[in-house]
Amino acid sequence: MTVACTCVVGLQWGDEAKGKIVDLLTEQHDLVVRYNGGANAGHTVVSKGKTYKLSLLPTGVLHPRLQSVIANGLVIYPPRFLEEIQELQAAGIPVGSNLALSDHAHVIFPYHMEEERLSEEGSGQAIGTTGRGIGPCYQDKVGRVGGVRVAELLCHGRLRDRLRLIVERKNRLLGALSASAKSFNADALSDQYAGYGERMRPFITDTVRLLRRALEDGKRILFEAAQGSLLDVDHGTYPYVTSSNSSPAGVWSGSGVPARKLDRVVGVIKAYTTRVGRGPFPTELADGADGIGERIRRTGREYGTVTGRPRRCGWFDAVATRYTAALASADALAVMLLDVLSELDELRICTAYELDGQRIDDFPSDAFILERCRPVYEVLPGWQGDLSQARKLADLPAAARRYVQRLGELLGLPVTIVSVGPDREQTILC
Ligand code: IMP
Repeated sequence: MTVACTCVVGLQWGDEAKGKIVDLLTEQHDLVVRYNGGANAGHTVVSKGKTYKLSLLPTGVLHPRLQSVIANGLVIYPPRFLEEIQELQAAGIPVGSNLALSDHAHVIFPYHMEEERLSEEGSGQAIGTTGRGIGPCYQDKVGRVGGVRVAELLCHGRLRDRLRLIVERKNRLLGALSASAKSFNADALSDQYAGYGERMRPFITDTVRLLRRALEDGKRILFEAAQGSLLDVDHGTYPYVTSSNSSPAGVWSGSGVPARKLDRVVGVIKAYTTRVGRGPFPTELADGADGIGERIRRTGREYGTVTGRPRRCGWFDAVATRYTAALASADALAVMLLDVLSELDELRICTAYELDGQRIDDFPSDAFILERCRPVYEVLPGWQGDLSQARKLADLPAAARRYVQRLGELLGLPVTIVSVGPDREQTILC
């Protein structure tokens, strides 16, 4: 079958190294589209020895041959958008008409970040967000009163009139949350954001039409999910989730491309599990005890790309990923960071949970039930030695091959890619 449209999606709590897989698959596609989230994502791509860190722009932007699209489902912080473009241009990567930004995407303002700071600090219900204003901006989008779309940055007068109404209301709301809340000036913000709008103008377009035309012309589209499916606002471990649909459920609403146009979904998993922020994590290896969690964090450099926070680390959870693989309708798996697990005597994989003395095989996405689940583990032998030079399955120690095979068996999916290091070359195609 010729594959035209692919979605690359994380099946855990994000940071599965999706950027590397998107980067590898770019050669089979003509467009790369981000459909959810904002600058809360962090994609690190290592190409030809150079490291690129992107948080808002699609990974495809590193390949100017491709048309990169920031679709309507995103929330945009204009200074970050402009900064990322400048950083790439300074590194010699051309960014121009190869990047399109949806006129329907929503805009993040500084009052969104203030609102998030106050909710995280003062509510007793902190989620452990990235502090990028993502949640409050999506709230304003859905609430319809305070949402501002990218297209509105292009009309200074209208922007000022709207911001006068919105900011006055925001200041009152923020003041009610805390007497020490910052307050904002609508006219200063509208001047500043209209300025950003002028600089963003060349990129702004109707991306739904652009994508429809691309499909009519037989072009191949690669969809790049941000975050992981367990952080999906509808299907993840709510309320400890992000505010968008980070599973492929978001493709249709977030880009305007019908989900049935997808020919293939590649589910990306780490060989273990990580999570940043709060929320239940049954296989977490708490610090202390045998130090395995700390060792995985150190070897895997498990610190947030966006916030630098140490990630919580744990064993692979096949119950959670079976759930997200089915949700995503994944066709194949990419197993990442296998090299990080070297030198451990034995490895554990969670194959079921125990809840109130009962064994359960189905993932309860309700966070309050999940936090009461205890993992049931299968133990596999570990392996010694550095895997980073392996280029084919046969180069891996037998125990590492067995581990990968077991992940595929437990999820009922073929493993088509195994990654043994950050560089493009450190990849095994199975
Ligand atoms: P928000 O997306 O900033 O609102 O954060 C909500 C939750 O999603 C927090 O637990 C974050 O740590 C988590 N989160 C958001 N983006 C990412 C990501 O790219 N990788 C991993 N976790 C993320």
